[in-house]
Amino acid sequence: MSENTHISDLAGHIGEAVAVHGWLHNKRSSGKIIFLIVRDGTGLVQAVVSQGEVAPEVWARLEGLSYESSLRVCGTVRADPRAPGGCELTVSDVEVIGPSAEDYPIQLKEHGVEFLLEHRHLWLRTLRQVAIMRVRDEVVKAIRDFFYERGFVNIDTPILTGAIGESAGTLFSTEYFDLGTAYLAQTGQLYNEALAAALGRVYCFGPTFRAEKSKTRRHLTEFWMVEPEVAWCDSECNMRLQEDLVCYVVARALERCRSELVESLERDISRLECVVPPFPRVAYDEAVAKLQSLGSSIQWGDDLGADDETLVAAESDRPVFVYNYPKRAKAFYMKENPDDPRTVLCDDLIAPEGYGELIGGSQREDDYDRLLARIREERLPEEAYGWYLDLRRYGTFPHSGFGLGLERTVAWICGVHHIRETIAFPRTLKRIYP
Ligand code: 4AD
Ligand code: MG
Repeated sequence: MSENTHISDLAGHIGEAVAVHGWLHNKRSSGKIIFLIVRDGTGLVQAVVSQGEVAPEVWARLEGLSYESSLRVCGTVRADPRAPGGCELTVSDVEVIGPSAEDYPIQLKEHGVEFLLEHRHLWLRTLRQVAIMRVRDEVVKAIRDFFYERGFVNIDTPILTGAIGESAGTLFSTEYFDLGTAYLAQTGQLYNEALAAALGRVYCFGPTFRAEKSKTRRHLTEFWMVEPEVAWCDSECNMRLQEDLVCYVVARALERCRSELVESLERDISRLECVVPPFPRVAYDEAVAKLQSLGSSIQWGDDLGADDETLVAAESDRPVFVYNYPKRAKAFYMKENPDDPRTVLCDDLIAPEGYGELIGGSQREDDYDRLLARIREERLPEEAYGWYLDLRRYGTFPHSGFGLGLERTVAWICGVHHIRETIAFPRTLKRIYP
């Protein structure tokens, strides 16, 4: 393979002869000049071909060239302050590496979303999707840096599990040899709790699975979650960690993805610039009273619905904590609130602008008897939780943790309406292709 110069690096090669490899994004011609807009994933460059300066067969090749053909373009880099990236290419030769069939399905016109999803493998080539994937990558890196800088140890928890992590209603299951049923992990949390007793501060970051029949813009059946677990940390300390993480990630995206956010995604970044601590904290009881006064049908004891979440954070310029939900609305492992045993020491962090719950977190039940009682109340198979109960038998300890949904966080930062655009190949109720 010959030398390749990435489009994003061209400005450092003014006056030099280079070879750029990429795909034909757009083309226009005016008489004896053809303008090729070439895309390579790092940027776009205009390559200017003059009929008099290339061999006749090159010119003929370009006249019939279809969109998305892959190319090797040789030329000299010329500074042009008006061009995106500040330069363009004066072309000496173009080689077509892989011609694109004439019926390339994604055209510049608007397509319906089902059509785009059916062609997700090609839709990903558009500038908007490229920008979202780059923001996602930066968010992932920021999350890892945040925990690394604070001394957390990254652990990979299993994807095939025997214990139900969240709720029996949304499990994907598979036969597991002679051992009965295995589930795809809904969470790595329970395993993280074992690791917190070994290492103090840990986190896992991986795909999680929920057979959720929800068709909302906030639900996928496969999504990525980062889950820290911290020994000697109560619910208050847990919320401060969430606040710090979210502010760190947003600041990083603003610092390193400004052009993706502003130019490609047209995000109003003033909405992100105000994301600084402290975030408002609203007790569940207060939230319910407020929602009822705004016309919601929520009753004490219910979890917040999607519309409630939107309402709760509607007036805030930053995410809002709702804390200490009723026990019956939440998972079995949350610690009973000593001041009001009907509730548990937990929080949901709700994003503004209608993006909903970014984080679910809680202090964990560290009392053996109470935890066992909750497992029984929820009719969970007790034999699968022997190891989890052991953590309360051998040196139990106060500990807390949370899960931040990567796709919801990226959707909010990017200002993308539906989270399906924030993962390369979304898995939803109605889609497993491509
Ligand atoms: O609130 P959840 O269910 O919490 C847990 O799984 C805990 N075990 C986490 C922990 O404490 N370690 O999920 C956490 C987050 C949600 O706030 C949301 O951002 C995201 O995961 N999430 C989803 N994202 C996309 N599609 C879905 N179906 C999601 N379900 C949850
Ligand atoms: Mg939740």
